[in-house]
Amino acid sequence: MEPVGADGDGDGSTPDYRRVDVSVLIVGAGAAGARTAIELADRGVEDVLVLGKRGHGDAHTTWARGGINGALGTHDSEDEPAIHAADTLEEGHFLNDPEMVETVTEQMPARLRELDEWGMAFSRTDDGAIDQRYFGAQSFRRTAFAGDHTGESLLDTLVGKARELEVPYRENVMITKLLSDGVESYGAVGFDMDTGEFVLFNAGAVVLAAGGYAAVYNRHTSRDDENNGDGPALAYDAGGTLADMEFVQFHPTGMAVDDGDPEWEPWSGRLVTEAVRGEGGRLYNADGERFMERYSPDQMELDARDVVARAIAKEIAEGRGTHNGGVHLDVSHRDAEFIAERLPRMYERFAELGVDMAEEPVEVAPTAHYGMGGVRVDAHGETDVEGLFAIGETMAGVHGANRLGGNSLAETIAYGVVAGERIAARIDGPGVVPDAIVEDVVEPHLAELAATAGRRGTHDVESLIAELREVMWDHAGILRDAASLEEGLDRLDTVREKADDVRVGDVTDRSFEFAIDLGFMLTVAETVLRGGLERTESRGAHYRTDHPETDGGWRRNICFERADIGRTEPHTVPVGRPSDAVQAALDAGYELDYHQLE
Ligand code: FUM
Repeated sequence: MEPVGADGDGDGSTPDYRRVDVSVLIVGAGAAGARTAIELADRGVEDVLVLGKRGHGDAHTTWARGGINGALGTHDSEDEPAIHAADTLEEGHFLNDPEMVETVTEQMPARLRELDEWGMAFSRTDDGAIDQRYFGAQSFRRTAFAGDHTGESLLDTLVGKARELEVPYRENVMITKLLSDGVESYGAVGFDMDTGEFVLFNAGAVVLAAGGYAAVYNRHTSRDDENNGDGPALAYDAGGTLADMEFVQFHPTGMAVDDGDPEWEPWSGRLVTEAVRGEGGRLYNADGERFMERYSPDQMELDARDVVARAIAKEIAEGRGTHNGGVHLDVSHRDAEFIAERLPRMYERFAELGVDMAEEPVEVAPTAHYGMGGVRVDAHGETDVEGLFAIGETMAGVHGANRLGGNSLAETIAYGVVAGERIAARIDGPGVVPDAIVEDVVEPHLAELAATAGRRGTHDVESLIAELREVMWDHAGILRDAASLEEGLDRLDTVREKADDVRVGDVTDRSFEFAIDLGFMLTVAETVLRGGLERTESRGAHYRTDHPETDGGWRRNICFERADIGRTEPHTVPVGRPSDAVQAALDAGYELDYHQLE
């Protein structure tokens, strides 16, 4: 996949760009992208290229902590994939695509064993089996883990395997546009963030494994320059459909810190893994009351994330929060050795900040963690645009209205495999970007990028991103209502107007990357607000104070296609039915008994 030449239209209106031919372009180098590349290499597909916005081995996956689900039954032998699927559907409030859910749950036991064979550093039981811990709203201990650095260990394993298979990887490249005529995919355009070179990737298939959109909120668990909605926004622009965008998961336990303290401030909203509660951590309000007894006496701290997040938000709103606007999470009844072994990263981080988790509680409050919505795909991860795939957090379908902790890493692996299988069965080398697409899409887009670089407008891009994030937190947060969502749309329009008049450095300056991010964020933020307004009920992570009940008539996915935003109403589609085996598991009514942990 050597560059095949530099180009440009010769009249000076289009900047020079390099053309690169690949059979499959994988956009995103986290677990989903890496697992797809491994599957393609295993199946003999040549000329695959994985692109990452960061250095090799560094992706948001490394921040995933508590675990990865699969019905191995290490401790609870009754567990099986159909029960895992039933828990996933229940937690998703039956908005998930049942076929996609089963695609994940059926595969996971074997995929976990495969990762084990590839050397993943799973935590183990005394007799050497892959250990599994409790995680919220799951009927059994099903979450396999590597201490509290599961994502890091997973990505290390996948990167090692991909290296062994000599999968080509290119770091520090950002994709700015996908090439399609709305029916078929032809490749993508982007730039090298180190050199500033523009690149046209001519690709037989494109896999978007570019993460989600939780970082459109100002308090979030992602890195600031990730999960800004690149994947969904790129697919939407290329003719893909977005679904379930109103469902954003607020993790109950992000770090609540003293915002005036320079040592603590950078940690505001960062993840305090659910594994702390899975290992017995208890929540107390500032009055010392274990308040989950009032909200969920059976499942307590391990009820679904939306339930625990709303409970914490209510305690804080009603004046029972701590000085730093949180509640206490206390695992100090466990001894230091246990905490250091099961939760090493958390233990170290708080120790560095002067808090000993074995002696005292930490302060936590809800934080935006995951977008359940994303690009609508079929059971193989293919979008409405032929040859364009979306997997991992970029896609919608598996999690419905709320996600089980530990299912995101599971989804990246399972969908990396199925998308890889599907592409391998079809691909026959690089496609050809039609001349009309080069003239009508590539060249105007490159001219626009060139005009953005060095623009001397009024507004600073990072300030606009911060403003957008504040709008989302204020108007599309844990609790929503029509008036507030509408106000959020108005405030978003103001950000959009200012975005036409920004100050940007050259192509290698971070402000150029942020200017592109801002465009993606505007698209995604609008679908979250509009979807939230449209859904006149409460379900899972979407809670409308003006419509607090779940409405059976709303068992539909809200979808957006490109012409929709700001012009027509979003449309809805009904959800399919679970298989007989999963329905039987649902009817059996399995449920976590929290008190086993005590
Ligand atoms: O809390 C956590 O460790 C998060 C896990 C997840 O979202 O899957």
